[in-house]
Amino acid sequence: MRVPFIAGNWKMFKTIASAKVFADEFKDLKVNKEIKVAICAPYTQLAALVEAFKDTEIGVGAQNVHYEAEGAFTGEISLPMLKEIGVDYCIIGHSERREYFNETDEAVNKKVKMLLEDDSITPILCVGESLEVREAGEEASFVEEQIEKDFAGISADKAGNVVIAYEPVWAIGTGKTATPDQADSMCKTIREKIKALYDESVSESIIIQYGGSVKPANSKEILTMGDIDGALVGGASLKSEDFKGIINF
Ligand code: PGA
Repeated sequence: MRVPFIAGNWKMFKTIASAKVFADEFKDLKVNKEIKVAICAPYTQLAALVEAFKDTEIGVGAQNVHYEAEGAFTGEISLPMLKEIGVDYCIIGHSERREYFNETDEAVNKKVKMLLEDDSITPILCVGESLEVREAGEEASFVEEQIEKDFAGISADKAGNVVIAYEPVWAIGTGKTATPDQADSMCKTIREKIKALYDESVSESIIIQYGGSVKPANSKEILTMGDIDGALVGGASLKSEDFKGIINF
């Protein structure tokens, strides 16, 4: 059985002080043991969140990592640096990084591979099509190609440790959620692609989240679909009440 996983993505919001306020309000959350929960925050807030959540089941994640362990890469953060803080997850290849920071599938693939080889931080790999691609009816082949490139060279025994987040770009931060059927159908397509690349034991165990304007009002209908195992939540994870509402769907 797949354990549902709901992660917040704070993007470039909050400060250390406001992250601590959130953690105080949020850590009493009664997480149903059948659901995993994490907050993916800006780098500067990670140590404070790891400390604030240390006696809870709530995980902490980063939003990016460089694929080299160290080097002359001004402004970047490496895996050993994240491990030192003690984070559990790292978002890789979010559409905002692909779009505004020119992150390619090749770079995404290197990052996912590095995390899997090291095996201490779980990658949350984001894929998803733009509005143009969906309007052209090419969303399935587009996302399948992202999966193929992002999983290149990753062996079956490691692949199942990736969390995949399907986030249609047109639904991110727009208030325009994919319908539960649209979201579930793409998550199913992704699961079938994973089965084709690996085998059924990998495809049936891999966690596939949906992301894009998930909020308390729509979380239940999305999270109860058969191929959707959780959510990656942006805007609605910034307020502890809203994020609790989503988790307690
Ligand atoms: P949103 O963002 O929930 O604000 O649409 C989701 C994401 O970008 O992960």
